[in-house]
Amino acid sequence: MNHPAAPGSVSPADQLRATLSALLDGLPPKQAAGAVDRLIATYRGATPTDAPILRDRADVVAYAAYRMPATFEAVRAALAAFADAVPEGWAPGSHVDVGGGTGAATWAVTDTWGGVRPVTVLDWAEPALALGREIAAANPALREAEWRRSRIGAALTIESTDLVTVSYVLNELDEADRATLVDTAAAAARAVVIVEAGTPAGYARIIEARDRLIAAGLHIAAPCPHSAACPITAGTDWCHFSARVSRSSLHRQVKGGSLPYEDEKFSYVAATRLPVAPAPARVVRRPQIRKGQVLLDLCEADEQLRRTTVTKRHGDLYKAARDADWGDAWPPFDSQS
Ligand SMILES: C[S@@+](CC[C@H](N)C(=O)[O-])C[C@H]1O[C@@H](n2cnc3c(N)ncnc32)[C@H](O)[C@@H]1O
Repeated sequence: MNHPAAPGSVSPADQLRATLSALLDGLPPKQAAGAVDRLIATYRGATPTDAPILRDRADVVAYAAYRMPATFEAVRAALAAFADAVPEGWAPGSHVDVGGGTGAATWAVTDTWGGVRPVTVLDWAEPALALGREIAAANPALREAEWRRSRIGAALTIESTDLVTVSYVLNELDEADRATLVDTAAAAARAVVIVEAGTPAGYARIIEARDRLIAAGLHIAAPCPHSAACPITAGTDWCHFSARVSRSSLHRQVKGGSLPYEDEKFSYVAATRLPVAPAPARVVRRPQIRKGQVLLDLCEADEQLRRTTVTKRHGDLYKAARDADWGDAWPPFDSQS
C-alpha cells in the first residue's frame, strides 16, 4: 500500500536515504565508523539502562546513519501489512511515535500514507530528538512535527491519537515499563504498531505486547490472521520477517563485504480498534521454489502453522505462489476476487 511518489517528487524513502548520506558528509569516515563501533558495543551490553544510550551528536549521527535505514524499512513493512488489513482508504489523522529517537517510524508513516497529519515524537534522549528534527526538515510531511522529551515509565502519558508506533524500544525497557508503555498506547490510540528485532527475545516481547493489546480490547490486524493465541510453542521457534535495506558506504566500511543490501530481520504486531480484515493466512518463512511447485509455510486463520504445496496444476495460484514473499498475505487479496 506504499504510495508511489508523484512524478517529479522524491519519495520519503529516497529522501531519507539522501538526507542520511548528506549527514555523514561532514564526518571523517574513521570517526563515523568509531561511533558505530561504540554504539554496537553498548547495545551488546546490558539494556535496559537507567540513562539514555544516545548521549551526544556523534552517537545519534552514528545511530541515524547506521540503524535508521533498517528500522525505517522494518516499520514500513509492518505498516504496509497493517494498511492492507484496515478499511480501504483509512489513513491515520494523527501519529505519536514513542521512543521515536531520530524518527524512523515517522518517515515510514509518511511513506505509507500521503498527506500531512499532526506528528509527535517522544523520547528521553534530547540529542536524538534534535537530530530527528534536523533530518525531518527534508520531509514536507514532518515539518510541523513536535519532538518532545518524555520518559517511558509510570508517569508516561500519550495524548489521544489515531496511531501509536513503538519501534525497537521494548528491548530497552524493563518488564514494568514495557507493560506501562503498551497499556498506555492501547488506551490512547485507535491503532498500535510495535516492531522489535527479529530474534527469539524480540518475538517474546512482541507476544507479551500482543497479549496486552488484545486484553485492552484491540484486534490484531497483522501479521497474525487471528487474535487467538499464537500457535508457536514458546522456545521452539519465533515469528519474524525480513526487510531488504540498501547498504550505505558506512555499512560497508563497518561490516565489510560488498553486497549492496542487507536483510533486516524483525518481529511485529499491529493491533487496532478499527474494523479489521486480517490476511486469511500469512507466509511465515521464505517460500521454497522447486521445479513445478512452491512450498509455502503458512500461519492460518484456524490457529495452525501449516505447509502447503502449490503446483502448476493450481494455475493462477501457482503464478501467485512464485511471486509470494516471506511476510506476504496468502492467498494474495486480489486472487480472491
Ligand atoms: C533503538 S532506539 C529506536 C529508535 C527509533 N524508534 C527507531 O526505530 O529507529 C531506542 C529508543 O528508545 C529510547 N528510549 C529507551 N528507553 C527510554 C525511556 N525509558 N524513555 C524514553 N525513551 C527511551 C532511546 O532514547 C532510543 O531513542
